[in-house]
Amino acid sequence: MKRALIIGITGQDGPYLAKLLVNKGYKVYGGYRRSSTRNLWRLHYLDVKKDVELISLDLIDQTSIMAAIKQSRPDEIYNLAAQSFVGVSFEEAIATGEITGLGVTRILDSIRQTNPRIKFYQASTSEMFGDALPPQSEKTLFEPNSPYAAAKLYAHWATKSYRQGYGLFACSGILFNHESPIRGIEFVTRKITDGVARIKMGYSDKIYLGNLDAKRDWGFAGDYVEAMWLMLQQKKADDYVIATGESHTVKEFCEEAFSCVGLNWQKYVEVDKKFLRPNDVHYLLGDPAKAKKELNWQPKVNFKELVKMMVEADLEKYQNPLKHTRQFLKHI
Ligand code: NAP
Ligand code: GDD
Repeated sequence: MKRALIIGITGQDGPYLAKLLVNKGYKVYGGYRRSSTRNLWRLHYLDVKKDVELISLDLIDQTSIMAAIKQSRPDEIYNLAAQSFVGVSFEEAIATGEITGLGVTRILDSIRQTNPRIKFYQASTSEMFGDALPPQSEKTLFEPNSPYAAAKLYAHWATKSYRQGYGLFACSGILFNHESPIRGIEFVTRKITDGVARIKMGYSDKIYLGNLDAKRDWGFAGDYVEAMWLMLQQKKADDYVIATGESHTVKEFCEEAFSCVGLNWQKYVEVDKKFLRPNDVHYLLGDPAKAKKELNWQPKVNFKELVKMMVEADLEKYQNPLKHTRQFLKHI
């Protein structure tokens, strides 16, 4: 039986990846911060909590990483942990560098010291491209323009340098935005779909947003975790862009989400300057040709289906509050 350690199990991608690996017969360990017990709801939501053995781990503490590796004895480590919110990285630039950047070197060096045969996946990001001209591919030059993107680029190069310098099987997936019903509510897609559901139910009458013209290549998290696994099954470690190849503005996301409940978005969305960033990435559009060719990977859920899935899940939450309260009470 193969063994995997997922670091960042309590985030959006962790439970989707855990579910995929459990279905493939893996023994799955989840590295999580003890302070984050409240975020375990995502594992319950995908009904995978019972299958994951949790291990306390913090990326700022190398001793905890070494201990987690010794305890789980993994064949594969997936690092999904990060301070991942771009907006907050401008306010917490040092913590972001410490966790999102340096934290990855701590994992790489722990692998080198304990068992260099462990395969490693690093969650790199399309944010590293900044305002480089679209479509962005593995050949596009990086132009990070936020503390988050700079930290991720440091981690990206560290992963590559441990691969080249020490021969580790270390890959980076350069993932474009991917979303789902368990996306953090601070990210724009979930903020919109939750807002649409609240407005439809009569609990709220507006959604306040920042830059409506930003363009993103949005896919479904469930599809993207499959690409992570595929990367670690190849003969050679490499880096891959994972994207849909289709881009939409935040405005278009609003339009689509409101149309799912028969409302006109223009009546309910307002711009509030406090949600504008000191620097934003304007246009992300990925070219996933290499992943299609070498990993035989392609996304299954399209933009419309993704928006509908998220709106319906948020509506269901407000329509069946008792079910969700019960689910919440089960795991506190
Ligand atoms: P997410 O929902 O923000 O989850 C981040 C995870 O990191 C959480 O489990 C969080 O745990 C954990 N974490 C934060 N600081 C930590 C620390 N000091 N030590 C250990 N764990 C820590 O992110 P996601 O959407 O699942 O994304 C997964 C990864 O892919 C992230 O690295 C993100 O930057 C990257 N990425 C995401 C996207 C996307 O569109 N989703 C695209 C490209 C790349 P707590 O519960 O304790 O906070
Ligand atoms: N969060 C947020 N809140 N974003 C807003 C808002 C708002 O009220 N209004 C407009 N936006 C715009 C942001 O300025 C940005 O241009 C776009 O919506 C998407 O913002 P987020 O959903 O916060 O995602 P992100 O693209 O900044 O970052 C996500 O994707 C990256 C991959 O490209 C995160 O998941 C990162 O961790 C990930 O690396």
